[in-house]
Parts: sequence; structure tokens; C-alpha cells
Amino acid sequence: MSKKYFIKTFGCQMNFNDSERIRGILRTLGYEPTENWEEADLILLNTCTIREKPDQKVLSHIGEYKKIKEKNPNALIGVCGCLAQRVGWELVQKAPAVDIMFSSFNMHQLPELINQAQAGYKAVAILDSPPEDEDKVWDFPTERDNLYCAYVTIMKGCDKNCTYCVVPQTRGKERSRSLESILEEVRRLVDDGVREIHLLGQNVTAWGKDLERPTPFSELLYEISKVPGVERIRFTTGHPRDLTDDVIEAMADIPQVCNALHLPFQAGSNRILELMDRKYTKEFYLERIQRLKESVPGIALSTDIIVGFPTETEEDFEHTLDVVREVEFEQIFSFKFSPRPGTPAATMEGQVPDEVKTDRMKRLLDLQKGIMSKLAKRYEGTVQEILVEEEREEGVLIGRTTTNKWATLKGGSELLGKIVRAEVREASPFNLNCELLEVVR
Ligand code: SAH
Ligand code: SF4
Ligand code: F3S
Repeated sequence: MSKKYFIKTFGCQMNFNDSERIRGILRTLGYEPTENWEEADLILLNTCTIREKPDQKVLSHIGEYKKIKEKNPNALIGVCGCLAQRVGWELVQKAPAVDIMFSSFNMHQLPELINQAQAGYKAVAILDSPPEDEDKVWDFPTERDNLYCAYVTIMKGCDKNCTYCVVPQTRGKERSRSLESILEEVRRLVDDGVREIHLLGQNVTAWGKDLERPTPFSELLYEISKVPGVERIRFTTGHPRDLTDDVIEAMADIPQVCNALHLPFQAGSNRILELMDRKYTKEFYLERIQRLKESVPGIALSTDIIVGFPTETEEDFEHTLDVVREVEFEQIFSFKFSPRPGTPAATMEGQVPDEVKTDRMKRLLDLQKGIMSKLAKRYEGTVQEILVEEEREEGVLIGRTTTNKWATLKGGSELLGKIVRAEVREASPFNLNCELLEVVR
């Protein structure tokens, strides 16, 4: 009987894509996935540590999963990802049930780590920096649930050092994946039936600067668009500072690049932006948005916002609301500032009380609710191109518009993976009810 694994993933899309890679590695070792952790031989938690809450979640999950060892003493528990990288051995001391630890630096070492753990050793491989052979990880396939849309990690790490953020600690310096390696994976995915390629990195627009032949990110977009079969291209996350004119021009020029962009601004006040060390001002951000809107008409924007950064006053927060009002994002992801160990902002004076953060968050979300309803209404009566991704129930399909909105329409499974044109009959912020007009390709 083959061995079974259960994997639980926290955090961002990059972590999600890492889990897809880990699943591919486990497949090559003969492991089968299971949805039920109680029947697994290997339980893996791919962790996030961006804020305090996900840290706590991981510990409580380990507490639950360790019960597996009562039934199956040979079962292994592994912790990988960003919390593993940040905390290392200390986590095994807190949670002795953990047998295996590694991070995004050394996923390719998983086969050896499983062997070590099976031999009865604690297989903890937390390294100070990425190993020289980390590119080996790209030799493994990913295992994905979505047949038509695939993530492709194009760079690792981040050089930005925003004062609130643990990512540079947990993912290291920026390392761009080579153009050849990316194109090879894209070709492989398209051969498998994938139609939408979603490029990932903490700061994707900085891709290519550190390559042997420094290459602008816009060139990567052109190269990917030339791979036959690539119908759509998305990328996440862009940093406003690196959203250069050539990237905006490429977005406007390449038909496959989707009409959507996630561009975090974090805060509207220039004083707070400076304390965050974001390296741009509110005016710079708004100018980039203006440029995007002019060059890519109808572009759907989304963003990340932190409320309650140390010393944030009511007046500072008003600037954040201003940006939200002016840009009209289709979606915002807002977070209460969470002090992260080892980051400069964690020990800054003027920490904001939780009640104030909660109040500001609520006001921000109330404002956004109105904007989202207004923007959704604009879709009614329009014709959208939708990539059909899933049959939710018999005869009911769901897919996404190029602006990254979920759409529902009636149709059969023969439309799966097809791009169709449909008219929007009814629109709400999280769904467009559509009627099929025709299959495009
Ligand atoms: N590389 C991306 C962000 C990665 S983290 C970028 O720079 O845009 C995802 C989001 O988590 C961030 O955009 C930020 O809004 C939020 N975040 C990061 N650190 C945080 C902290 N200490 N407290 C609260 N939110 C935080
Ligand atoms: Fe963190 Fe800033 Fe890097 Fe984003 S750009 S990952 S917020 S350090
Ligand atoms: Fe979390 Fe690491 Fe992503 S800290 S948000 S999983 S890069």
C-alpha cells in the first residue's frame, strides 16, 4: 500500500505554490495525498509568520496532529515554510512532536529529511541562507488542483526591508529564477492544458536585476506571451517603486496580460510610508495608478493596507482613506499592524492600541464596501471574457474575468478550460451572474 501525506498550507500564494512543489516531490517518492490527516503517514504544515495570528494557528494545529502518533507511531510530522525558517530549533523544543523541519530554501532536500526522520533522527534543516544547489527544486514538477490556471514562482526573497516585515528574514535576499527555467516550466504547463500563467514573487517587478544577463521584467512578460498556448498572464506582487513605465507599457501592449494588478500601498501618509521605509510617497503611488489607468483602460486594482502602524494618527489614517477613495480598488486586503520579532517597527515607540486598530479597520472596510458595490454595478450589461475553471455543480460553471472577478454561468463540462464571452446579468462584489454568448477559443 502506498504511503499517504496530508499537507496544510498557510500564508501567501508563494507558499501555496511551494506546497504544490512539495506535493510534486512527494509524488516522486510514491506518496499519495489524503484529505484526512488521521490516515496520513506524513503530515506537513507549510507555515506563515507574517503576523502573530498565523504563528498561533500553527502551534494549535501541531497540538492536534500529534495525536496521530498514538494510532500510527511511525507517522511523521513536518513543519516547513516561513515560521520554520524564523524560529528553527526553538519550535522543536516547544513542540517535540515535530520530526522534520525545512524552509523554502531547501524544499529539494525533503527526500533526505524523510529518510533521516524514518531512521529516528530529528531532521531539522534550517539554514542561515539559501544553499548553492537550491535551483534543483525546479527539476521537480508541481502538483496542482486547478487544471487551467497555474502559479509559476519566478523569484524568491526580497531586498526591500520594509520595517514591519519578516519576509526578508524568512525568504532571504532576492534571487531571480533564470529565464530558461521559467520558460521551460511554462511550456510544460501549457502542454498539460494550462491556459493562465500566474507569475509569483514577493516583488516580481524586480525580477531579472540579479541575473547574469540583467533582464527587465517587461521582457519576461513578452517572452512568456510568445509561448504558444499561453492565453492569460497575471503577476503578483508588484512593488510600486519597481512598477516602471516599461512594465506598464508591456501590460498595455501584450494582449495576454490580464487587466488586473495587485499593488500594495500599505499607508497613505507620507510620514508613515517613510517610517515603513517603503521608498515612495502617496503622490508617487497615485501617479503610478493614474498612469496605469490611462494606459490599461478598465484595469482592476487591488491592494494591501496596514492600519495602526506605530505612531499612526487620525490624520495619517485619513490619508489612507483618501487613497482608497481616489483609486477605487476592486478589492483591498487590510491588516492590523502586528509587531514581528526582529523587525525595526516591532520596537518603535508609539505602538497603537488594539481598539484603535479595530476601529480604523472597520471604517476602512465600511468605505470599501460602498466602493465595491458601486464598481460591481458597472459590470451589469457588459460583455466579459471568462476562462471557465470549474463545474461547481452539474450545468453550473465558474470562471474568472480578465479583471479577476469570479463569474457564474450555465453550461456543460465541455466548456471547461475554454475562454467564453458572456453577458453580465447581475453583479455583486464577489460574483457576476452571466449568460453565455459564445465560445471564443
Ligand atoms: N511583498 C508584498 C507583501 C507581502 S506580505 C509587498 O510588498 O507588497 C503581504 C501583506 O501583509 C503586506 O502587503 C502587508 O500589508 C501585510 N503585512 C506584512 N507585514 C505585516 C505586519 N507586520 N503587520 C501587519 N501586516 C503586515
Ligand atoms: Fe515585505 Fe516589503 Fe518585501 Fe513586501 S516589499 S515582502 S512588505 S519587505
Ligand atoms: Fe507568510 Fe512567508 Fe508568505 S511569512 S505571507 S508565507 S512569504
